[in-house]
Amino acid sequence: MQSRSAFAKTVALIALATLLAVPLAFASGQGEAGGSGQQGSMQSQSQQKAPAVKVDELSGQSPSGKLEIFSWWSGNEGPALEALINLYEKTYPQVQVINATVTGGSGVNAKAVLKTRMLGGNPPDSFQVHAGQELIGTWVKANRMQDLTPLYQKEGWMDVFPKDLLNLIGTDNGIWSVPVTIHRSNVMWYIPANLKKWGVTPPKSWDEFLQMAPKLQQQGITPLALGTNWTAIHLWESVAVEALGPDKWDALWNGNLSWTGSEMNQVWTTFGKILQYTNDDAASLSWQQATDMVVQGQAAFNVMGDWAAGYMTTTLNLKPNTDFGWEASPGTSGVFIMLSDSFGMPVGVPHPVNTLAWLKLIGSKNGSDTFNPLKGSISPRLDSDLSKYNAYSQSAAKDWKNDRIVGSLQHGVVANEGFMNDFASVMEMFLKSRDVNQAMNATQAIAIQNGISQ
Ligand code: GAL
Repeated sequence: MQSRSAFAKTVALIALATLLAVPLAFASGQGEAGGSGQQGSMQSQSQQKAPAVKVDELSGQSPSGKLEIFSWWSGNEGPALEALINLYEKTYPQVQVINATVTGGSGVNAKAVLKTRMLGGNPPDSFQVHAGQELIGTWVKANRMQDLTPLYQKEGWMDVFPKDLLNLIGTDNGIWSVPVTIHRSNVMWYIPANLKKWGVTPPKSWDEFLQMAPKLQQQGITPLALGTNWTAIHLWESVAVEALGPDKWDALWNGNLSWTGSEMNQVWTTFGKILQYTNDDAASLSWQQATDMVVQGQAAFNVMGDWAAGYMTTTLNLKPNTDFGWEASPGTSGVFIMLSDSFGMPVGVPHPVNTLAWLKLIGSKNGSDTFNPLKGSISPRLDSDLSKYNAYSQSAAKDWKNDRIVGSLQHGVVANEGFMNDFASVMEMFLKSRDVNQAMNATQAIAIQNGISQ
């Protein structure tokens, strides 16, 4: 699918030029929130901000008044959060919780609103943020978060959360959020009875998928359901981890793998071939609608994080193994692309005592095992009660223990928001142009701009 109209190429080139120009605007202080230069400007503004509270001095005070929790877990992504908020309100009846959500999978809309609020000196009491660079390379770097080390010490959490996870939310100067989930990104979902009817089995590699895809198309079935831009990046990371393997995937984010070499050429080339077998209306579909295509028998497969399991079990009432099936995305068996949703306390929040009580609850065993079974995720805690989880989550918990763990790009682990925003522009261009060289050159440029490569 290399052949595209001259128009598409022109659009892509204009987009590239815009993309490359944007960080300059940030650097000169004229840009909106986002991009690498933003961190510098946020840093200088933070010096005039309300001073940090002392977290260890808050714990003796009783929560009362309001608590605003900011996230993108709304609508049919909401039940797990609502259960947690109910638990909070039962535990702290003097507090009224404001469940502030901005709809849009993967936080694409919420994160933009959050930036405006943080820059405007109006932080929510606590906000959803991914463990890893989204937290550290964005908000911690800009001095916007409170150190929660005293809370970890008081609750004995240093031994309760895995060390590698603590490394993703901590720096030499502190621990900056409380993790509530472990989600897996590289999962391929399907309906077993439908695959049987169509005469296919879950592909073990993307090559195998490309071979079986025409057979599905001949039967009027979309081989792979896809949604809006971010879900394409989500798919891309699974394709990249197959092509590169976990070591080179890690090397890419440490600046030790070229963005323009033969390995990345293979990633983009395979990704382009896979896109030929996705639905034409992908750009207008949410991740839930892409999952629906599989559930309703219009598509054979979908690669999505295991919040799709939460959606299928909690919202659609389907049973794992019988009503829906899953495999690691093609070629990634034994590798777990992880991400973790966490909440922190921004500097200058209106209700720090209530926030601390919230963080204590979401990090507790009861809080975690209330939330995660509904969400499709597993608990980050090492002492989680697995009997509360369904067959899918139990299998994810086993893989989390045994697999090689690598970090997700789309969900904030390996790159900061500056890179993520720029990568979304590169993806937009690629979805239109399918131009491998252009994608490689553009990603190299943004990796340099965002401090990933030299
Ligand atoms: C991820 C988040 C998940 C889920 C998903 C879809 O970024 O970590 O918990 O909400 O987006 O919106």
